[in-house]
Amino acid sequence: MSKHAIALSGASLLLSVSLIATQAQTVAPTTPPDPPTFAAQGTPNFVGISDIQEFKALPEYHEPSWVTEKFVDTGKLPPVAERLPKEPLVYKASNMADGIGVYGDVMRHVIGGRPEGWNYSAGQSQGWGGIDIGLSECLTRTGPLFEVKADELAPMPNLAMSWDWSEDGHELTMHLIEGAKWSDGEPFTSDDVMFYWNDEVLDPNVTPLNGATPETFGEGTTLEALDDYTIKWTFKDVRPEQYLYQMAYGTFCPGPAHLLRPQHPKYSDNTYEQFKNAFPPEYMSMPTMGAWAPVTYRPDDIIVLRRNPYYWKVDDQGNQLPYLDELEYRLSTWADRDVQAVAGTGDFSNLEQAESYVEALKRSADPSAPARLAFGARTIGYTLYPNLSANGWGEPDERGQAVRELNRNLDFRQAVTSAVDRQSLGEALVKGPFTAIYPGGLYAGTTYYDKDSTVYYPFSLETAKEHLKAAGLEDTDGNGFVNFPAGTAGGGDVEITLLANSDYATDKNLVEGVVAQMERLGLRVIPNTLAGTQRDATEQSGKFDWTIRRNQSELITVVKNTVALAPTGPRISWHHRAGSDDTLDLLPWEQEMVDVVNKFIATNDSEERIGLMKQYQKLYTENVNGIGLTQYPGALIINKRFANIPAGTPIFMFNWAEDNIIRERVFVPKDKQSDFELFPQTLPGVPGTGNGPVS
Ligand code: GLA
Repeated sequence: MSKHAIALSGASLLLSVSLIATQAQTVAPTTPPDPPTFAAQGTPNFVGISDIQEFKALPEYHEPSWVTEKFVDTGKLPPVAERLPKEPLVYKASNMADGIGVYGDVMRHVIGGRPEGWNYSAGQSQGWGGIDIGLSECLTRTGPLFEVKADELAPMPNLAMSWDWSEDGHELTMHLIEGAKWSDGEPFTSDDVMFYWNDEVLDPNVTPLNGATPETFGEGTTLEALDDYTIKWTFKDVRPEQYLYQMAYGTFCPGPAHLLRPQHPKYSDNTYEQFKNAFPPEYMSMPTMGAWAPVTYRPDDIIVLRRNPYYWKVDDQGNQLPYLDELEYRLSTWADRDVQAVAGTGDFSNLEQAESYVEALKRSADPSAPARLAFGARTIGYTLYPNLSANGWGEPDERGQAVRELNRNLDFRQAVTSAVDRQSLGEALVKGPFTAIYPGGLYAGTTYYDKDSTVYYPFSLETAKEHLKAAGLEDTDGNGFVNFPAGTAGGGDVEITLLANSDYATDKNLVEGVVAQMERLGLRVIPNTLAGTQRDATEQSGKFDWTIRRNQSELITVVKNTVALAPTGPRISWHHRAGSDDTLDLLPWEQEMVDVVNKFIATNDSEERIGLMKQYQKLYTENVNGIGLTQYPGALIINKRFANIPAGTPIFMFNWAEDNIIRERVFVPKDKQSDFELFPQTLPGVPGTGNGPVS
């Protein structure tokens, strides 16, 4: 102790001692601990995109014999060669794990969601679990990129067969698949693309399901059709190749304009609500570009899809895909999906609710188990996001507005993050080496993650309380919860609503944990746990103080949905959107994040990109943009009778496994085929000639 300190008077000495005592218990930010070792099972066979697929006319084409006999020979359908495009998308057998497949059988999915209707591009959910992934096709595709070599990483051509950049890099001309048809036989053309762009993305009254906005493709970007099969993008930036990833699922998957246009308010007397609801779940002749189309719906029971006779993809022997004649979606719960897949009464699950890992592992270890189970990397993660808008998004009341102001206070966010005991949150889900401490931002173990750029506020209730005090919050009425300052929201307890999804046990467990941990800090948190669809709509409309999200691809891959890494447009971020005056009230560090993300999009220099993502991670975690909760691996469970499941398929990366496994190439060898098909030898119905299944 210095002489100077000794000279202090008694009172101030006491004061400084107590300050030091408190500080001794506070903890400084550091880097996060390394996640426990957990080896992913199976690694992909890395290839180039051209090893997987190409567009090419083949000398002959084939289809299931029953389609020829029952539909072509009777004049109900044109021959397969006439139903296919000029140059179909061809999957190369050399990239298929088990080679060319055979027709027949069904994949029985189980899902926890419920369909709102078939108007996907106007914002209706079909209940998730891969059902919309199988119905919609998009300009590009990203799911299978998990097996593409890093130096050849680029979105895969899909409805857009090829593209070229203008000399100056501002224009991108895309060539659409020529002569492909919707499942009702109507041609797919640039008219479908332009209807989606002009009347859905650009129309502020329509919100496509996965939230495409004009800025999703860059501010000031325009799109025009040059002819039936050519479209042209014009960008402000030079060669922003990043946007090609956003043209994949789920932000650029056009719906059938020939059905949608007559219902759209611009071309009819419908309201926007009527337009959105024009194709209810009972509507059984919805044309798709996907490999299967819906033929049956029974509420809370099942949706059945049958093969699309106009599907525009083939294998390199000319066999029209898909190999599987049917897809089923049992309408149950997500937990039941795991149980049924393990038991063999269902065929597929993304094992992602950590609570059921131990049981599922135990049962799948038996060599006679009907399904195989393989864990991947830690790509499932949850974050608690504070609503950062203070200029009216979601129209908060006085209390809500006061919480928004707190959310925008760094000390407050530091208090919250320091009060989260991530170790016990993770252990409450599952014991063992699964869960990892996740401070927020990019995930440990992914390409752009940098530990040294990650600021971790370790669990310390003392530190958290100091920060809360610094944010001006005290428990003035001694009931254990801090109060708003007198004059704000009546000086009552600070009450914070926490939006979450009730469809998943994991989400509910995390809510419970967070509520209890915040109570120890002195914050009263009130769960608002809603069924998935309602939760998503509530979040979209900004009606929340805090929200718990299972994170999406941007925090894993960076290149998929890059724009969503920061509030780069008025309606792009999950937790900070434009207020009533249509402006974003960004905090300085948020603006810096936006600038960094925009720089990332504008450059193709990989060194520069790595540096930018280090800056991003630092900005995100130091400023606590979101409060990371936990990060853990998921496992793909798939019945052993299926072939052509690519090695090392992650349940989630650029997309979900339902896309990653390329279901249209999956098949069941003849000797393993089941008799599970509900509507054998039938096809989807088409508008005008009735509902499916049609025989
Ligand atoms: C839900 C499920 C995921 C996956 C996706 C596909 O979100 O929880 O495992 O099936 O649907 O959209």
